[in-house]
Amino acid sequence: MLGQPTLANYWHPICAVGDIGEQPRRFPLLGDFVVAYRDSEGPVALRDLCIHRGAALSLGWVRGDRLVCAYHGWEYDRTGGCVRIPSRPAGAPIPRAARAQAYRTQEAYDLVWVAVGDPVAGIPAFPGGVFGKSGWHGFLSYRKVWRTSAARSVENFMDFSHFPYVHPGLLGTEDRAEVQPYAVEKTDDGLFFAFEQQEPSDLYGKGGTATVRYEYTLSLPFTIHLNKIEEDGVSATMISMATTPVSPTASELYVWIIRNHSLSRPDHEFGDFTRTIMEQDRVVVESQRPEELPVSLREELHIKVPDAASLLYRTQLSALAKVDAFGEYGA
Ligand code: FES
Ligand SMILES: [Fe+2]
Repeated sequence: MLGQPTLANYWHPICAVGDIGEQPRRFPLLGDFVVAYRDSEGPVALRDLCIHRGAALSLGWVRGDRLVCAYHGWEYDRTGGCVRIPSRPAGAPIPRAARAQAYRTQEAYDLVWVAVGDPVAGIPAFPGGVFGKSGWHGFLSYRKVWRTSAARSVENFMDFSHFPYVHPGLLGTEDRAEVQPYAVEKTDDGLFFAFEQQEPSDLYGKGGTATVRYEYTLSLPFTIHLNKIEEDGVSATMISMATTPVSPTASELYVWIIRNHSLSRPDHEFGDFTRTIMEQDRVVVESQRPEELPVSLREELHIKVPDAASLLYRTQLSALAKVDAFGEYGA
Protein backbone atom coordinates (compact mmCIF):
# COMPACT_ATOMS: atom_id res chain seq x y z
CA MET A 1 0.00 0.00 0.00
CA LEU A 2 1.19 3.41 -0.92
CA GLY A 3 1.05 6.00 1.83
CA GLN A 4 1.42 9.70 1.25
CA PRO A 5 2.99 10.16 -2.20
CA THR A 6 6.50 11.58 -2.46
CA LEU A 7 8.46 12.93 -5.40
CA ALA A 8 9.59 9.35 -5.99
CA ASN A 9 5.99 8.51 -6.93
CA TYR A 10 6.01 10.76 -10.02
CA TRP A 11 7.61 10.48 -13.44
CA HIS A 12 10.61 12.77 -13.97
CA PRO A 13 12.68 13.34 -17.12
CA ILE A 14 16.32 12.32 -16.79
CA CYS A 15 17.55 13.21 -20.30
CA ALA A 16 16.65 13.59 -23.96
CA VAL A 17 15.88 10.43 -25.94
CA GLY A 18 19.10 10.84 -27.93
CA ASP A 19 21.24 11.05 -24.81
CA ILE A 20 21.25 7.33 -24.14
CA GLY A 21 22.60 4.51 -26.23
CA GLU A 22 24.41 1.25 -25.62
CA GLN A 23 26.97 2.86 -23.36
CA PRO A 24 25.57 3.25 -19.81
CA ARG A 25 25.40 6.85 -18.59
CA ARG A 26 24.82 8.36 -15.18
CA PHE A 27 22.07 10.94 -14.58
CA PRO A 28 21.29 12.75 -11.31
CA LEU A 29 17.77 12.45 -9.92
CA LEU A 30 16.28 13.15 -6.50
CA GLY A 31 19.62 13.52 -4.78
CA ASP A 32 20.82 10.16 -6.11
CA PHE A 33 21.99 8.76 -9.46
CA VAL A 34 20.34 6.71 -12.19
CA VAL A 35 22.26 4.66 -14.77
CA ALA A 36 20.48 4.50 -18.12
CA TYR A 37 21.20 2.72 -21.37
CA ARG A 38 19.40 1.15 -24.28
CA ASP A 39 19.13 -2.59 -24.91
CA SER A 40 17.28 -4.43 -27.69
CA GLU A 41 13.93 -3.77 -25.96
CA GLY A 42 14.40 -0.06 -25.31
CA PRO A 43 15.58 2.23 -22.54
CA VAL A 44 16.62 0.78 -19.18
CA ALA A 45 17.12 2.72 -15.94
CA LEU A 46 18.55 1.33 -12.71
CA ARG A 47 19.80 2.87 -9.51
CA ASP A 48 23.46 3.58 -10.24
CA LEU A 49 24.71 1.27 -7.51
CA CYS A 50 26.00 -2.29 -7.59
CA ILE A 51 24.71 -4.29 -4.62
CA HIS A 52 28.01 -6.17 -4.34
CA ARG A 53 30.37 -3.40 -3.24
CA GLY A 54 28.56 -0.22 -4.12
CA ALA A 55 30.39 0.65 -7.33
CA ALA A 56 28.65 2.88 -9.88
CA LEU A 57 27.09 0.67 -12.53
CA SER A 58 27.52 3.53 -15.01
CA LEU A 59 31.25 2.68 -15.08
CA GLY A 60 30.34 -0.63 -16.68
CA TRP A 61 29.26 -1.66 -20.16
CA VAL A 62 26.45 -3.51 -21.90
CA ARG A 63 27.11 -6.95 -23.37
CA GLY A 64 24.30 -8.96 -24.89
CA ASP A 65 21.54 -6.97 -23.17
CA ARG A 66 23.27 -7.31 -19.82
CA LEU A 67 24.85 -4.51 -17.84
CA VAL A 68 28.28 -5.59 -16.64
CA CYS A 69 29.62 -4.00 -13.43
CA ALA A 70 33.10 -2.59 -13.99
CA TYR A 71 34.39 -3.76 -10.60
CA HIS A 72 33.94 -7.57 -10.41
CA GLY A 73 31.95 -8.17 -13.55
CA TRP A 74 28.57 -9.06 -12.08
CA GLU A 75 26.00 -9.02 -14.86
CA TYR A 76 22.50 -7.58 -14.50
CA ASP A 77 19.46 -7.93 -16.75
CA ARG A 78 17.00 -5.11 -17.50
CA THR A 79 14.85 -6.00 -14.48
CA GLY A 80 17.85 -5.48 -12.20
CA GLY A 81 18.34 -9.17 -11.52
CA CYS A 82 21.94 -10.36 -11.25
CA VAL A 83 22.29 -13.22 -13.73
CA ARG A 84 26.02 -13.94 -13.53
CA ILE A 85 28.75 -13.72 -10.91
CA PRO A 86 31.92 -14.55 -12.85
CA SER A 87 34.01 -15.28 -9.74
CA ARG A 88 31.71 -18.26 -8.91
CA PRO A 89 31.56 -21.54 -10.82
CA ALA A 90 29.07 -21.67 -13.67
CA GLY A 91 25.75 -22.96 -12.34
CA ALA A 92 26.42 -21.89 -8.75
CA PRO A 93 23.28 -20.36 -7.23
CA ILE A 94 23.00 -16.58 -7.32
CA PRO A 95 21.73 -15.05 -4.08
CA ARG A 96 18.17 -13.77 -4.41
CA ALA A 97 19.25 -10.41 -2.94
CA ALA A 98 21.76 -9.86 -5.74
CA ARG A 99 19.71 -7.22 -7.51
CA ALA A 100 20.07 -3.70 -8.78
CA GLN A 101 17.07 -1.46 -8.21
CA ALA A 102 15.24 -1.17 -11.55
CA TYR A 103 13.09 1.88 -12.27
CA ARG A 104 10.11 2.22 -14.57
CA THR A 105 11.20 3.97 -17.76
CA GLN A 106 9.29 5.53 -20.65
CA GLU A 107 10.07 7.72 -23.61
CA ALA A 108 7.66 10.61 -24.14
CA TYR A 109 7.92 14.05 -25.73
CA ASP A 110 11.48 13.32 -26.86
CA LEU A 111 12.61 12.75 -23.27
CA VAL A 112 13.38 9.68 -21.17
CA TRP A 113 11.22 9.65 -18.03
CA VAL A 114 11.85 7.59 -14.91
CA ALA A 115 9.67 6.74 -11.90
CA VAL A 116 11.72 5.65 -8.92
CA GLY A 117 8.69 4.48 -6.90
CA ASP A 118 5.19 3.37 -7.87
CA PRO A 119 3.77 6.28 -9.87
CA VAL A 120 0.55 7.90 -8.65
CA ALA A 121 0.09 9.79 -11.95
CA GLY A 122 1.06 9.36 -15.59
CA ILE A 123 3.54 11.46 -17.53
CA PRO A 124 1.76 14.83 -17.82
CA ALA A 125 -0.04 15.33 -21.14
CA PHE A 126 0.16 18.51 -23.20
CA PRO A 127 -3.12 20.50 -23.10
CA GLY A 128 -5.06 19.84 -26.30
CA GLY A 129 -2.57 17.14 -27.21
CA VAL A 130 -0.66 19.76 -29.21
CA PHE A 131 2.69 17.94 -29.06
CA GLY A 132 3.01 16.23 -32.44
CA LYS A 133 -0.49 17.33 -33.52
CA SER A 134 -0.96 18.29 -37.15
CA GLY A 135 -0.95 22.05 -37.68
CA TRP A 136 1.37 22.50 -34.74
CA HIS A 137 5.14 22.63 -34.72
CA GLY A 138 7.28 22.23 -31.63
CA PHE A 139 10.91 22.15 -30.63
CA LEU A 140 12.96 22.01 -27.45
CA SER A 141 14.10 25.60 -27.04
CA TYR A 142 15.92 25.63 -23.72
CA ARG A 143 17.59 23.10 -21.47
CA LYS A 144 19.67 24.05 -18.48
CA VAL A 145 20.46 23.13 -14.90
CA TRP A 146 19.43 25.88 -12.51
CA ARG A 147 21.00 26.13 -9.08
CA THR A 148 17.69 26.00 -7.26
CA SER A 149 14.97 23.48 -6.48
CA ALA A 150 12.53 22.32 -9.14
CA ALA A 151 9.71 23.86 -7.10
CA ARG A 152 11.32 27.33 -7.16
CA SER A 153 11.87 26.99 -10.92
CA VAL A 154 8.24 26.03 -11.52
CA GLU A 155 6.82 28.68 -9.21
CA ASN A 156 8.76 31.31 -11.12
CA PHE A 157 7.28 30.04 -14.37
CA MET A 158 3.74 30.67 -13.12
CA ASP A 159 4.53 33.97 -11.38
CA PHE A 160 3.59 36.73 -13.80
CA SER A 161 3.66 39.73 -11.44
CA HIS A 162 7.43 39.83 -11.95
CA PHE A 163 7.08 40.52 -15.69
CA PRO A 164 7.49 44.34 -15.49
CA TYR A 165 10.63 43.99 -13.34
CA VAL A 166 12.48 40.96 -14.69
CA HIS A 167 11.32 41.24 -18.32
CA PRO A 168 10.70 44.99 -18.85
CA GLY A 169 9.71 45.83 -22.39
CA LEU A 170 9.46 42.14 -23.28
CA LEU A 171 6.62 40.75 -21.18
CA GLY A 172 5.55 43.76 -19.12
CA THR A 173 5.99 47.43 -18.31
CA GLU A 174 6.10 49.14 -14.94
CA ASP A 175 3.02 51.28 -15.65
CA ARG A 176 1.00 48.06 -15.93
CA ALA A 177 2.33 46.35 -12.82
CA GLU A 178 -1.04 46.01 -11.10
CA VAL A 179 -2.48 42.49 -11.25
CA GLN A 180 -6.23 42.15 -11.75
CA PRO A 181 -8.03 39.43 -9.78
CA TYR A 182 -8.03 36.05 -11.53
CA ALA A 183 -9.42 32.67 -10.60
CA VAL A 184 -7.16 29.70 -9.88
CA GLU A 185 -8.82 26.31 -10.27
CA LYS A 186 -7.75 22.97 -8.89
CA THR A 187 -7.61 20.30 -11.57
CA ASP A 188 -7.31 16.52 -11.37
CA ASP A 189 -3.52 16.71 -11.41
CA GLY A 190 -2.66 20.27 -10.43
CA LEU A 191 -4.05 23.70 -11.19
CA PHE A 192 -5.20 26.04 -13.97
CA PHE A 193 -5.56 29.79 -14.29
CA ALA A 194 -5.95 32.30 -17.08
CA PHE A 195 -5.96 36.05 -17.63
CA GLU A 196 -5.49 38.57 -20.40
CA GLN A 197 -2.79 41.15 -20.74
CA GLN A 198 -1.49 43.71 -23.20
CA GLU A 199 1.65 42.39 -24.78
CA PRO A 200 4.02 45.36 -24.85
CA SER A 201 6.26 44.37 -27.73
CA ASP A 202 6.19 43.08 -31.25
CA LEU A 203 6.90 39.50 -30.21
CA TYR A 204 5.81 37.56 -33.22
CA GLY A 205 6.37 40.06 -36.01
CA LYS A 206 2.75 41.17 -36.14
CA GLY A 207 3.41 44.76 -35.03
CA GLY A 208 2.00 46.97 -32.24
CA THR A 209 0.49 45.74 -29.01
CA ALA A 210 -2.20 43.13 -28.67
CA THR A 211 -4.38 41.61 -25.99
CA VAL A 212 -3.01 38.15 -25.34
CA ARG A 213 -4.76 35.45 -23.30
CA TYR A 214 -2.45 33.51 -20.99
CA GLU A 215 -3.57 30.03 -19.93
CA TYR A 216 -1.42 28.21 -17.38
CA THR A 217 -1.87 24.47 -16.78
CA LEU A 218 0.24 22.83 -14.09
CA SER A 219 0.60 19.08 -13.58
CA LEU A 220 2.07 18.22 -10.21
CA PRO A 221 4.74 18.29 -9.30
CA PHE A 222 6.93 20.00 -11.92
CA THR A 223 5.41 20.20 -15.41
CA ILE A 224 3.77 23.43 -16.53
CA HIS A 225 2.32 24.74 -19.78
CA LEU A 226 1.63 28.33 -20.75
CA ASN A 227 -0.61 28.70 -23.79
CA LYS A 228 -0.53 32.22 -25.19
CA ILE A 229 -3.52 32.86 -27.42
CA GLU A 230 -3.52 35.91 -29.62
CA GLU A 231 -6.40 38.32 -30.30
CA ASP A 232 -7.76 36.25 -33.18
CA GLY A 233 -8.49 33.48 -30.63
CA VAL A 234 -6.78 30.91 -32.86
CA SER A 235 -3.06 31.65 -33.13
CA ALA A 236 -1.41 30.11 -30.12
CA THR A 237 2.08 29.57 -28.80
CA MET A 238 2.49 27.01 -26.04
CA ILE A 239 5.55 27.28 -23.85
CA SER A 240 5.91 24.09 -21.84
CA MET A 241 8.39 23.21 -19.15
CA ALA A 242 9.23 19.86 -17.59
CA THR A 243 11.55 20.17 -14.62
CA THR A 244 13.77 17.48 -13.15
CA PRO A 245 14.32 17.50 -9.37
CA VAL A 246 18.06 16.84 -9.51
CA SER A 247 18.63 17.55 -5.81
CA PRO A 248 17.12 19.86 -3.19
CA THR A 249 19.17 22.72 -4.65
CA ALA A 250 19.40 21.87 -8.37
CA SER A 251 16.87 21.35 -11.14
CA GLU A 252 17.09 20.75 -14.87
CA LEU A 253 14.67 22.66 -17.06
CA TYR A 254 13.39 21.45 -20.43
CA VAL A 255 11.38 24.11 -22.28
CA TRP A 256 9.52 23.51 -25.54
CA ILE A 257 7.84 26.03 -27.80
CA ILE A 258 4.93 24.65 -29.79
CA ARG A 259 3.01 26.91 -32.17
CA ASN A 260 0.21 26.73 -34.73
CA HIS A 261 1.18 29.92 -36.59
CA SER A 262 4.19 31.49 -38.32
CA LEU A 263 5.27 28.00 -39.36
CA SER A 264 7.42 29.32 -42.19
CA ARG A 265 9.48 31.41 -39.80
CA PRO A 266 12.63 29.87 -38.35
CA ASP A 267 12.43 28.32 -34.89
CA HIS A 268 15.32 30.38 -33.61
CA GLU A 269 13.24 33.57 -33.72
CA PHE A 270 11.01 32.03 -31.06
CA GLY A 271 13.78 30.15 -29.29
CA ASP A 272 16.00 33.21 -28.92
CA PHE A 273 13.21 35.12 -27.22
CA THR A 274 12.49 32.30 -24.78
CA ARG A 275 16.17 31.90 -23.93
CA THR A 276 16.41 35.61 -23.15
CA ILE A 277 13.40 35.38 -20.84
CA MET A 278 14.65 32.22 -19.11
CA GLU A 279 18.10 33.67 -18.50
CA GLN A 280 16.59 36.83 -17.03
CA ASP A 281 14.57 34.59 -14.71
CA ARG A 282 17.54 32.39 -13.80
CA VAL A 283 19.53 35.27 -12.29
CA VAL A 284 16.75 36.14 -9.86
CA VAL A 285 15.63 32.58 -9.10
CA GLU A 286 19.16 31.35 -8.34
CA SER A 287 19.43 34.23 -5.85
CA GLN A 288 16.40 33.06 -3.85
CA ARG A 289 17.07 31.62 -0.39
CA PRO A 290 16.41 29.07 0.73
CA GLU A 291 16.78 27.20 -2.56
CA GLU A 292 14.03 24.81 -1.48
CA LEU A 293 10.54 26.25 -1.79
CA PRO A 294 9.09 26.91 1.67
CA VAL A 295 5.78 25.11 1.25
CA SER A 296 4.52 26.16 4.68
CA LEU A 297 2.40 29.24 4.03
CA ARG A 298 3.71 30.72 7.28
CA GLU A 299 7.05 31.31 5.60
CA GLU A 300 7.76 34.20 3.22
CA LEU A 301 5.09 36.80 2.61
CA HIS A 302 2.14 36.27 0.29
CA ILE A 303 0.11 38.98 -1.37
CA LYS A 304 -3.54 38.16 -1.89
CA VAL A 305 -4.22 38.62 -5.62
CA PRO A 306 -0.88 38.30 -7.44
CA ASP A 307 0.32 35.28 -5.44
CA ALA A 308 -2.94 33.32 -5.69
CA ALA A 309 -1.53 30.69 -8.06
CA SER A 310 1.68 30.12 -6.13
CA LEU A 311 -0.30 29.89 -2.87
CA LEU A 312 -2.32 27.01 -4.27
CA TYR A 313 0.85 25.43 -5.71
CA ARG A 314 2.60 25.56 -2.34
CA THR A 315 -0.47 24.08 -0.67
CA GLN A 316 -0.53 21.24 -3.19
CA LEU A 317 3.18 20.55 -2.83
CA SER A 318 2.91 20.52 0.95
CA ALA A 319 0.63 17.49 0.59
CA LEU A 320 3.60 15.50 -0.73
CA ALA A 321 5.43 13.65 2.01
CA LYS A 322 8.70 15.26 3.05
CA VAL A 323 10.71 12.07 3.17
CA ASP A 324 11.15 10.01 0.05
CA ALA A 325 13.12 6.97 -0.99
CA PHE A 326 16.40 8.86 -0.67
CA GLY A 327 15.86 10.35 2.76
CA GLU A 328 15.35 13.96 3.68
CA TYR A 329 14.34 15.31 0.33
CA GLY A 330 10.87 16.80 0.14
CA ALA A 331 9.32 19.23 -2.30
S1 FES B 1 30.92 -3.88 -7.04
FE1 FES B 1 29.85 -4.50 -8.81
S2 FES B 1 30.59 -6.48 -9.18
FE2 FES B 1 31.58 -5.93 -7.35
FE1 LIG C 1 10.00 35.32 -15.83
